[in-house]
Amino acid sequence: MRTLVVYSSRTGNTKKIADAIYEITPEESKIAPVEYNPDFKDYDFVVLGFWVDKGLPDKKAQKYLRTINRKKIGNYPGT
Ligand SMILES: Cc1cc2nc3c(=O)[nH]c(=O)nc-3n(C[C@H](O)[C@H](O)[C@H](O)COP(=O)(O)O)c2cc1C
Repeated sequence: MRTLVVYSSRTGNTKKIADAIYEITPEESKIAPVEYNPDFKDYDFVVLGFWVDKGLPDKKAQKYLRTINRKKIGNYPGT
């Protein structure tokens, strides 16, 4: 299952988790910061990691999340 790992991180915590998740993804998977607005279309599964801002995913993660459709998505922290 080709997996795209996307992360939104200010101070590096979320990136560390994203790197660890990416390590166990199948070949041909990809990791990218949310700022790169990575294209998810060629992937079967999207993992989105974000830092929590006032109880919600941060703004960049929210914006990216709204663009994703017709995909299985896993996110962390779990909401
Ligand atoms: C402005 C601001 C608001 C935050 N709001 C929350 C919050 O509502 N709940 C929470 O658990 N953590 C909150 N945090 C903590 C961050 O989500 C946490 O430090 C996170 O690990 C940062 O991730 P990063 O290192 O990937 O940037 C907040 C941090 C900042 C700077």
